[in-house]
Amino acid sequence: MTSNIILTGFMGCGKTTVGKGLAEELGFSFIDTDLLIEKSCEMTIPKIFATLGETYFRQQESLVAEELSKGSKQVISTGGRLMLDTTNAKILGESGHVFCLVASAEEILRRISNTTEPKRPLLDTPRPLERIVELINEREKGYKQFQQIDTTNKTVEVIVIAIKKLFTQAT
Ligand code: S3P
Repeated sequence: MTSNIILTGFMGCGKTTVGKGLAEELGFSFIDTDLLIEKSCEMTIPKIFATLGETYFRQQESLVAEELSKGSKQVISTGGRLMLDTTNAKILGESGHVFCLVASAEEILRRISNTTEPKRPLLDTPRPLERIVELINEREKGYKQFQQIDTTNKTVEVIVIAIKKLFTQAT
């Protein structure tokens, strides 16, 4: 097993938590694209969106995708829209196996409300549930191109073992 695992899916679907568990389970390194961008820009994601703009952030995502595609044995937790860009999806997709974590809009809202991480400017609105539903609908077709992993009502351990099994079978 030398290739990467790439986790995609909407914000709050558990990519980071599951990714960390999976990396530990497989002895792979864990990488979070949002953290890489925050480090290289020396700014939080909301600050990047507010000062440099979303387009700049998306360009950073593409640079990171290209760089990470050169590595192996990495579990890569990608920002919720990174893999919906065709070029990013091709380059990272060819470096490993992609899994798309899925949860209901209500579950997503519950999870993002329980976190103190200030990294989701797109959901910083008075009606976040409506925004989540709207964005999921917009992105649904893009997410569906990847293997779906339903995370609703499942523990991190169960999800990790399920993905590990699928990855092992696929490689
Ligand atoms: C985004 C998802 C966020 C982060 C940024 C934009 C998106 O990452 O990249 O706020 O457009 O879906 P997570 O999916 O890890 O929350």
